[in-house]
Amino acid sequence: MLVLGIESSCDETSAAVVSDGPHILSNVVASQIALHRPYGGVVPELASRHHLELINTVVTDALREAGVTLDQIEGVAATCGPGLASSLLIGLTFGKSLALARNLPFIGINHMEAHLISPWLSAGRAFEPNVSLIVSGGHTMLVHVRAVGDHTVLGQTTDDAAGEAFDKVAKLLGLGYPGGPEVEKAARDGNPAAIPFPRGKLNDPDFDFSFSGIKTAVLYWLRKQEKKSVASSQKSEDGGPSSTSPTLHSSLFTLHSPSLSDLCASFQQAVVDVLVGKAIAAALAMRVRFVTVSGGVACNGALRDQLATACRRHGIELLMADRKLCTDNAGMIAGLGWHKLRAGLRSPHGLDAQPNLRLG
Ligand code: KG4
Ligand code: ZN
Repeated sequence: MLVLGIESSCDETSAAVVSDGPHILSNVVASQIALHRPYGGVVPELASRHHLELINTVVTDALREAGVTLDQIEGVAATCGPGLASSLLIGLTFGKSLALARNLPFIGINHMEAHLISPWLSAGRAFEPNVSLIVSGGHTMLVHVRAVGDHTVLGQTTDDAAGEAFDKVAKLLGLGYPGGPEVEKAARDGNPAAIPFPRGKLNDPDFDFSFSGIKTAVLYWLRKQEKKSVASSQKSEDGGPSSTSPTLHSSLFTLHSPSLSDLCASFQQAVVDVLVGKAIAAALAMRVRFVTVSGGVACNGALRDQLATACRRHGIELLMADRKLCTDNAGMIAGLGWHKLRAGLRSPHGLDAQPNLRLG
């Protein structure tokens, strides 16, 4: 069964074709990162306008790359939530219209549920029960997945998502957007033990997360550094930095140790410790053989390395989505759509976008 998948929940316009397996034949992603970069975050009006401009081309490219024609497509899947309402509407309406016009079965897909299957698509393996860590800019959650469509959310963030913490810390430091890759780059030569940032909820018995404390600790640490910097420049009467800027500038680090890379490495280590610790604890509690990971933050090299080491130590198999399948993409939408359509599930053509759709 050839399934066309469409994703437009946030700032990526994407279309993909899967064949039986499911096996990804094409996965075209048009990123809007450059468009939103000047604003330091996604601007919903701009995002939806660009989805509208791009959707036709992206779907056409996905069909061409897969080497199939529209006539060969046997089912359509599109993200119906969660996400930005005005963005979701573009892909969902396109998908439903196509299915209606072509008399094809249609299924609306929960974006978060699709993240659960992307590591399996990457590995090309048959699905097995697992604990799945989803870490993105909007979500951080641990899910016990017994089978496709049968899952329980074990825990999630009670405040900021892990990616959101990376983005906010990058903004504080005057690094670029999106913040995760920038912080990772800056952390490369840093000492992860330089600053003992808090590991929110790491030792709590539940599987929830909290990342706002780490972000605030970074802010306070920077303010302290700024005070020290102002005091020392007043002492030397050389007219150094004189005012508190809303974005604490990285030039502070030229005056004091630890360095910017030490700060980034220490922040990243605190986030990674919590993600790895909680994922392993959940896998042991659920007695599963597999831990899987997806979402934008799963592109982070330190997270990937340390999760691999921890899983090895506990005899757990780790499946990580390839980087292209970690971030938002229609391959995972088409893949989950394939499972659901093949099981006979269908959505009504009146299905609406559900910005706050939950998992489970
Ligand atoms: O899954 P995603 O592409 O979009 C959603 O949020 O749904 O994730 C984007 C998030 C952003 O917060 C970004 O900063 C973070 O993933 N991210 C990373 C890395 N690459 C992307 N965080 C840490 N390290 C990275 N290498
Ligand atoms: Zn996502």
